[in-house]
Amino acid sequence: MARAGIASRRASEALIEAGRVSVNGQLASLGQKADPDADEILIDGVPLPAACERIVIALHKPCGYLSAMHDDRGRACVSELIPLDEHPSLFHVGRLDADTSGLLLFTTDGQLGQRLAHPSHEVMKEYVATVKGTVSEEELARLRRGIKLEDGMTSPAEADLLPGSEPARVRLRIHEGRNRQVRRMMEAIGHPVCALERTAIGDVRLDGLALGTWRRLSDEEVASLIGCGPCEPLQ
Ligand code: URA
Repeated sequence: MARAGIASRRASEALIEAGRVSVNGQLASLGQKADPDADEILIDGVPLPAACERIVIALHKPCGYLSAMHDDRGRACVSELIPLDEHPSLFHVGRLDADTSGLLLFTTDGQLGQRLAHPSHEVMKEYVATVKGTVSEEELARLRRGIKLEDGMTSPAEADLLPGSEPARVRLRIHEGRNRQVRRMMEAIGHPVCALERTAIGDVRLDGLALGTWRRLSDEEVASLIGCGPCEPLQ
């Protein structure tokens, strides 16, 4: 499945473990060999070739949802908010904390997902952090220079204060995706985050997308994310 570009290897294993994949009418198991030309492979009842269509969608994730397709403890997951019945192999690209809202991308294309999530891809991510206290120019300058965190210096960020906002709202653009990075950066300059929203990934913006809803990305948006011409359909 990973080779067919359905999802990353890990995501494919998760689909199998969740009992969502069958081969010739039997539930698939990890490590099982199957031939897409000879065997009938279904994901949630959808044949593998149909599941191969490359889809990329943007979700406006509300707070309170895990960036996961399934949770053993039954907590709410982003998978509940996307059209999985139509596109069962959609998988989230990267993560947002459960208490972060905003733009989360999903794709059916494992290679594209891995590429976007890989740190070397350095796609810009924009956040708006509502923080405690009054943020000074010098504190913004510290964010721009890079902040020393326990896992090393952050790369220089673009940082500015949104005008006229009380409590203060800081717009931060970063190219990294470390665990709870924005919260830790703001904490380090003495302004803990009260609310955090991701507003853009590269040229893809949340803009008018209503909370809890999704939309399909245009070919141009997908192409802008991978930094090349329009994507070819998967083979
Ligand atoms: N940085 C954070 O602190 N949390 C997120 O969810 C994303 C970026």
